[in-house]
Amino acid sequence: MRVVQVVGFGGPEMLVAGEAPDQVVGPGQVVIEVAVAGVTFVETQIRRGLDRWHDRPQVPYVPGGLVAGVVSAVGAAGGVGSLLVQLAWTAGARVVGAARGGRKLDAVKELGADAVVDYSTLDWTDQVREATAGAGPDVVFDGVGGEIGRAAFEVTARGGRFSVHGAASGESPTSIPNRPATGVWR
Ligand SMILES: NC(=O)c1ccc[n+]([C@@H]2O[C@H](COP(=O)([O-])OP(=O)(O)OC[C@H]3O[C@@H](n4cnc5c(N)ncnc54)[C@H](OP(=O)(O)O)[C@@H]3O)[C@@H](O)[C@H]2O)c1
Repeated sequence: MRVVQVVGFGGPEMLVAGEAPDQVVGPGQVVIEVAVAGVTFVETQIRRGLDRWHDRPQVPYVPGGLVAGVVSAVGAAGGVGSLLVQLAWTAGARVVGAARGGRKLDAVKELGADAVVDYSTLDWTDQVREATAGAGPDVVFDGVGGEIGRAAFEVTARGGRFSVHGAASGESPTSIPNRPATGVWR
């Protein structure tokens, strides 16, 4: 990728255009194809070596903390799901994380899930049962809805809790049967 780097502290001649390795997206990160970058006055003072209030960056560095552009790669498992995995794990739960694709599943595992399943596979609810010794999860948090939400409801343990916080699929899980014996609406 093209970058403009600060190669030393001083005037504008210290800004040198060049190439740097392409960024690799990690969990919770996005890569932005930058269309416009902004450099604030304080960044100019830092480059000139006049700023006394911030740590001096090591040269060479790329200035310009303000950017606008297009997100070209997402490393982002779902935002709410990522938080729920961490909160549930921290609270002492055994956590089964469900998402689509190996990269997201790796990210969910890194967040603390004890087991992960890919809900784009046909037998994903069987994998959930297997991960919960056949019983199904005691608590399910669904932010996707639609068919995935309905399947998640069906795999919830008998007497368990099913909590709906969103419908990222675009479909609310309205087709979930009213069956208080197997699920509790929150
Ligand atoms: N109740 C509340 O207070 C509250 C608060 C925040 C958000 N929400 C709602 O909760 C849901 C999730 O929010 P979020 O911030 O976690 O969103 P997000 O970061 O965009 O994650 C949503 C996830 O849903 C999955 N998904 C499945 N089918 C999808 C589809 N057709 N289009 C897009 N995504 C799809 C995607 O994972 P895969 O690619 O792995 O399938 C995606 O990572 C949204 O409906 C949001 O409105 C509710």
